Amino acid sequence: MKDLVFSGIKPTSVPHLGNYIGAIKQWVDIQKNHRCLFSIVDLHAITVPQDPKEMRQNTLDIAATYLACGIDPARSTIYIQSEVAEHAELAWILGTVTKMGELERMTQFKDKSQKGGRERAGLGLFAYPALMAADILLYDTSAVPVGEDQMQHLELARVIARRFNQEFGETFVIPQALIQKHGSRIMSLQDADKKMSKSDESKSGTIMLDDDADAIRKKIMRAVTDTGGGVYFEPEKKPAVSNLMTIYHHLSGKTMKEIETLYEGKGYGDFKKDLAEIVVDYLGPIREKLETFRREPGELHKVLDAGRDKAKAMAEAKMELVRERVGLGR
Ligand code: AMP
Ligand code: TRP
Repeated sequence: MKDLVFSGIKPTSVPHLGNYIGAIKQWVDIQKNHRCLFSIVDLHAITVPQDPKEMRQNTLDIAATYLACGIDPARSTIYIQSEVAEHAELAWILGTVTKMGELERMTQFKDKSQKGGRERAGLGLFAYPALMAADILLYDTSAVPVGEDQMQHLELARVIARRFNQEFGETFVIPQALIQKHGSRIMSLQDADKKMSKSDESKSGTIMLDDDADAIRKKIMRAVTDTGGGVYFEPEKKPAVSNLMTIYHHLSGKTMKEIETLYEGKGYGDFKKDLAEIVVDYLGPIREKLETFRREPGELHKVLDAGRDKAKAMAEAKMELVRERVGLGR
């Protein structure tokens, strides 16, 4: 049987270019020769406050984006995490073999709890990695394609799986992270020290997948560059330009060397103008499909219904084994 691949995105907004390059784009290739599950992880989204109405729309938008970007529902299972209750059940059980100390070391928890202070951070935010481990382990996942920011969570999922197996007997497959060489961490267009994110205060640092051509052009032309001209891929010395080159590389298929040669002796202005058109052309069809799904969500619901049923059947079988191993029920 082919190895199983699992990944997910939180419905906290429409996905952005970092989500696309760091995650979704890889998934489209991987699905050609793996069984895949791609979830919309709404239980993770609510670990920080969400507007319920907006989150519902975002959930459908993420599903629509998966399809618009080329995830094929005939090959891959697309479903909403909360519609398969086994995720929450397994997360609780895994929470009993997860150490407070391990959760305290998670940089995402440290970052996200910083604002209100630890005292006011929610239990859900703290337990986030146990839920993520449940997502992955529930399906005997062998590979998890994610951006670099998820590496620490994935390491912890491996620790939890090994510990459970040791305590209760072989139950879970130990998953591997799949992180690509370039593009696993797309940075903000306004600050090359910060990753591109949905929550960036400076909206012009993040390209949303439903941005129109004008918005994309403006954001790219305003993107920060580095001192001392030259289009070279040198992430240490030229972090901002290297980030723009990474986007160029992923959306044009050109290698870093080819891009360097193309812009030898040219300024940042020429480079950015071309990059803007590449991004506009690339995202145009994705945005159109996304808008079609927004107008006519019928097909989307069919895909999500079928995905839920398929995921649920797999999750139920695994949970039966887990309950037996742990001694739950009669
Ligand atoms: P999230 O939006 O946090 O649910 O992230 C969904 C997926 O996108 C995860 O695999 C992340 O690692 C990936 N991701 C998020 N932001 C970036 C970024 N700036 N660069 C690359 N990958 C990213
Ligand atoms: N925590 C991931 C993120 O913020 C989303 C996620 C939840 C996920 N469960 C997962 C990713 C399981 C991969 C596998 O990006």
